[in-house]
Amino acid sequence: MKFARQGVFALAAVISLPAAAAGDPAAGRTKADTCVGCHGIPYYTNAYPNYRVPKLGGQSAEYIVTALKAYRSGERSHTTMHAQAGSMTDQDMEDIAAFLATAPRHPTGK
Ligand code: HEC
Repeated sequence: MKFARQGVFALAAVISLPAAAAGDPAAGRTKADTCVGCHGIPYYTNAYPNYRVPKLGGQSAEYIVTALKAYRSGERSHTTMHAQAGSMTDQDMEDIAAFLATAPRHPTGK
């Protein structure tokens, strides 16, 4: 019984590892270069979108990673975002999400 319980704790520790290997916002800043033109991150000039693109600044990192994985797997279908996410590693996604989560919501900083 005691062993079984320790097994559960050991398993929990292993499962929580990827979440603990949190993204690096500085690395994400560079990796997000291609994203910001469309996604309206503050402090970058933005020639378009002339169509609606979700704002990602200040979005939760967990949400961003989940969305990117869904685009990569095709579970969420969108041609552009599938192409964007297709070449990303999980670490890329964590880094980009860590950067975007700390970016202000709007160019005004609000
Ligand atoms: C050419 C424009 C364009 C580029 C470049 C682009 N995106 Fe997107 N992105 C979109 C559009 C349009 C959507 C909305 C797609 C949909 O309806 O599912 C979107 C959706 C998303 C979403 C889901 C948002 C939500 O509210 O559910 C995330 C996360 C995302 N993009 C991240 C990124 C990241 C990270 C990059 C850079 C690697 C990037 N995008 C590059 C246009 C772009």
